[in-house]
Amino acid sequence: MISKRTLLLILVFLIPLSVMLTECYNNKKEDARGEIFAGSATCISCHKDVYNSYIHTAHFETSRPAALETIHGSFAKGHNVFSFGNGMSVTMEKRKDGLYQAGYEHGKPNTAEKFDITIGGVKAETYLYWKGNKLFELPMSYFSVLHRWTNSPGYDTGRVDFNRPIVRRCMECHSSYINELPNPNLSLTNRTVEFDKSSLIYGIDCERCHGPAANHVNFHTQFPEVKKAKYITTYNALTRQQKLDACAVCHSGNKDVFIRSAFVFKQGDTLAKFKEHNFAPQNTNPATLDVHGNQNGLLASSKCFVMSNMNCNTCHNVHKKESGNLVLYSKSCMNCHTTANHNVCKLLPKLGDVIKKNCIDCHMPAKPSNLIQVEANDSKLKVPYLVRTHRIAIYPQETKKVMAFINSQN
Ligand code: HEC
Ligand code: HEC
Ligand code: HEC
Ligand code: HEC
Ligand code: HEC
Ligand code: HEC
Ligand code: HEC
Repeated sequence: MISKRTLLLILVFLIPLSVMLTECYNNKKEDARGEIFAGSATCISCHKDVYNSYIHTAHFETSRPAALETIHGSFAKGHNVFSFGNGMSVTMEKRKDGLYQAGYEHGKPNTAEKFDITIGGVKAETYLYWKGNKLFELPMSYFSVLHRWTNSPGYDTGRVDFNRPIVRRCMECHSSYINELPNPNLSLTNRTVEFDKSSLIYGIDCERCHGPAANHVNFHTQFPEVKKAKYITTYNALTRQQKLDACAVCHSGNKDVFIRSAFVFKQGDTLAKFKEHNFAPQNTNPATLDVHGNQNGLLASSKCFVMSNMNCNTCHNVHKKESGNLVLYSKSCMNCHTTANHNVCKLLPKLGDVIKKNCIDCHMPAKPSNLIQVEANDSKLKVPYLVRTHRIAIYPQETKKVMAFINSQN
């Protein structure tokens, strides 16, 4: 028998403990998208391999808090100035209270703003700063191929300017969530929107693709013996169009008008219900589709796509960082293009096995974007922004280049 005194003692200890536990539970950082979302960190316990591999991808890192580790441009003297050539310049500065882009006019300081958010990191990086609840792009971006600071795309090339507003659309493709505050003053001339700063979920997280997963997490935590997935979309059960839409929500260019927020879109949804397609000829003719951001449109114009059942996942595993691995990508071509199927490359007999390492440079060459052009410095030198075309085809010019390269190796 437990004495009354022991019982009382137990109670005295239990009450604060239970209070502490509820406190702790309530303090669990809530997901800004609502309680139907669990947050990526909760996926680790059951999907450790996917998680550990995914966090190193360009998707996951596409937006991050700006810091020395996420900014690849240099702050060192001699490498930290961009000059417009007319007495105006921007300097990247490490100050006591943070990292800054600072504008100067004939040596006199004017505007200076802090690096707050880094976007990108593969070919280019651009940076955003907060002013109250508004987001703006900083004037200087970093270009990996040039290893230097360049004028941010869309900014005037003759003066220091810090006023390019960032709209929600930008974040819909480059983050998992941000809440836009209602603004009655919004008009065609006033496009500066306000955000709830604390609602930003950086990067493209698991649930940005897979949809809200709190029920999935709760169910499988409660019933660990169940090995069949519950309360989450099964990718293999989707139609081809649904599979394509899951990527096209961010990879079909930026010409269509969204009638519902793309943040709500999840795997299994139909993209046509989210936007009004812009049928202007430049958006439907594959010859004028821009390589930047429109892999969906370009792929759809390829014979491979039309004459097979392929989707983006035929060649891409989005949980892994695979960019640059052209041997791996070429293997996915050779899954369909085989001697048995009588559709191997016409050049195979002539060139031999060397082509098996790289079908890509000849049939999916990197092409310059017309949407993004980079000005390296006051020389106004235009540097092309190259993106792999997804119009898989025969490109005689590229073939010549690759052949010359192959021959030079022999
Ligand atoms: C308590 C364990 C558990 C947690 C936590 C968990 N899952 Fe799962 N999940 C499972 C099980 C079990 C399956 C079924 C077996 C498998 O595919 O691994 C599954 C399968 C999946 C599938 C494949 C579904 C299908 O049918 O193709 C996806 C996608 C998924 N989980 C996403 C997530 C995401 C996103 C999170 C984090 C927000 C998460 N899971 C957290 C247990 C869990
Ligand atoms: C929420 C928007 C979004 C969705 C959904 C999305 N992507 Fe992306 N994807 C991006 C953005 C933004 C980038 C550029 C990331 C960067 O470099 O900062 C990107 C980059 C990529 C890259 C280049 C990766 C690299 O290492 O350079 C590939 C490949 C890719 N996406 C494939 C896919 C596929 C396949 C799907 C569908 C399964 C998909 N994406 C779904 C937004 C998205
Ligand atoms: C860019 C979109 C995208 C993101 C982000 C993403 N996934 Fe996936 N995931 C997919 C696609 C597409 C498939 C189907 C792949 C297949 O079956 O080949 C998939 C399949 C899965 C599966 C089942 C197959 C497997 O590989 O086990 C699990 C589990 C899963 N994802 C968990 C996660 C978790 C956890 C995260 C975050 C760490 C995550 N995913 C992030 C697109 C995404
Ligand atoms: C419709 C979706 C979409 C929108 C909107 C969008 N982007 Fe992107 N962005 C992408 C995709 C996809 C890529 C990478 C592949 C490519 O170039 O096609 C990319 C690439 C980038 C890169 C280079 C990333 C790298 O790692 O090399 C930067 C920087 C960038 N975008 C910034 C922005 C900014 C700033 C905005 C808003 C003003 C914006 N993007 C709007 C989809 C989008
Ligand atoms: C899912 C199967 C599949 C995959 C994967 C695939 N293709 Fe194809 N491809 C086809 C089919 C089907 C055709 C059209 C008929 C034929 O040649 O058999 C075709 C046609 C082509 C053509 C002729 C295009 C033209 O306009 O005449 C080229 C070149 C080509 N593919 C290259 C590639 C390359 C390079 C890859 C990898 C990046 C690849 N394919 C991946 C199925 C595929
Ligand atoms: C037939 C194979 C194949 C298919 C199908 C395919 N891709 Fe790709 N993708 C590639 C190859 C190859 C590259 C170049 C990889 C590299 O250079 O590292 C690439 C690169 C990319 C990039 C980076 C482009 C750049 O230059 O920055 C994005 C984004 C991308 N793919 C998205 C998609 C999306 C979205 C789909 C579906 C609409 C898709 N891909 C379908 C083979 C494919
Ligand atoms: C050096 C450049 C180069 C490389 C590397 C290359 N191809 Fe080709 N490919 C060509 C050219 C050029 C043609 C058109 C030849 C002709 O019509 O005489 C062609 C034709 C094709 C065709 C169309 C065949 C037909 O029946 O019309 C396919 C399919 C193809 N290639 C697939 C591949 C695949 C898969 C790989 C990688 C294993 C590859 N190619 C590597 C340049 C290349």
